[in-house]
Amino acid sequence: MSRKPIIAGNWKMNLLQSEAKELFEGIKSFVKDYTAPQLPTVVIAPTFTSLCAVSSVRCDCGCGGNKISVAAQNCHWENSGAYTGEISVEMAKDAGCDYIIIGHSERRQYFSETDEMINKKAKAILAGGLIPIICCGETLEQREAGITDEHIATQIRAALSGISSEDVAKSVIAYEPIWAIGTGKTCDSVEANRVIKMIRNVVKEVSGSEAADSIRILYGGSVKPSTIEEQMSQSDIDGALVGGASLKADSFNEIIANTMKVAV
Ligand code: PGA
Repeated sequence: MSRKPIIAGNWKMNLLQSEAKELFEGIKSFVKDYTAPQLPTVVIAPTFTSLCAVSSVRCDCGCGGNKISVAAQNCHWENSGAYTGEISVEMAKDAGCDYIIIGHSERRQYFSETDEMINKKAKAILAGGLIPIICCGETLEQREAGITDEHIATQIRAALSGISSEDVAKSVIAYEPIWAIGTGKTCDSVEANRVIKMIRNVVKEVSGSEAADSIRILYGGSVKPSTIEEQMSQSDIDGALVGGASLKADSFNEIIANTMKVAV
């Protein structure tokens, strides 16, 4: 079955509103010349403070606002209440988001997010009509100890627990080996594809074959214009979650262009 590729840019804690808008415009002016099915789904995840700024400029290119989707980098699972510093799914939606990234290793590591919290967030996002981008990945120590698959399977089973097969089918997973994030060390494409196939098998076991065939599973970790073609040529890699290389229009646009060379 063919799955529509996704190229997602995770801007992390970078860019002021004016800079975010400028970068977004740079991506918008590139994608305007392409249409689906050639164009992958392009998703941009700015900081919360720039969500409205980028959402406000995404719809004036004559594309109906569909060419670039906006994502939040995190959310809370409750709708509202006394959760200082958090935003709800409804708030992210109100700020123009279609997707929300959850379980990024930086959030797990620096903000103590657990698998249980990520599962609650995934459920809240789907209940709110948005799509979760669920991140998973192993540390270098886990890889060297030979427990990569076991660790990731645990993360995925926990994240998808209690979610219907229909909702799992719409969701997105990003496999991001932690040792490859921001280090310039990309995971070998064949190995990334092997882990992604393993993730798809776990999804099959938990949610059935239809969900496993439909769910889009991305690779993340030092993705660059020079690596994406080989990554996209793999059977099970459905796109990329890009950090550093998404902060410049030239490199991000080149990643989109190189994706189009491979995936139609
Ligand atoms: P990177 O980040 O591309 O800078 O390695 C990826 C990510 O953390 O999503």
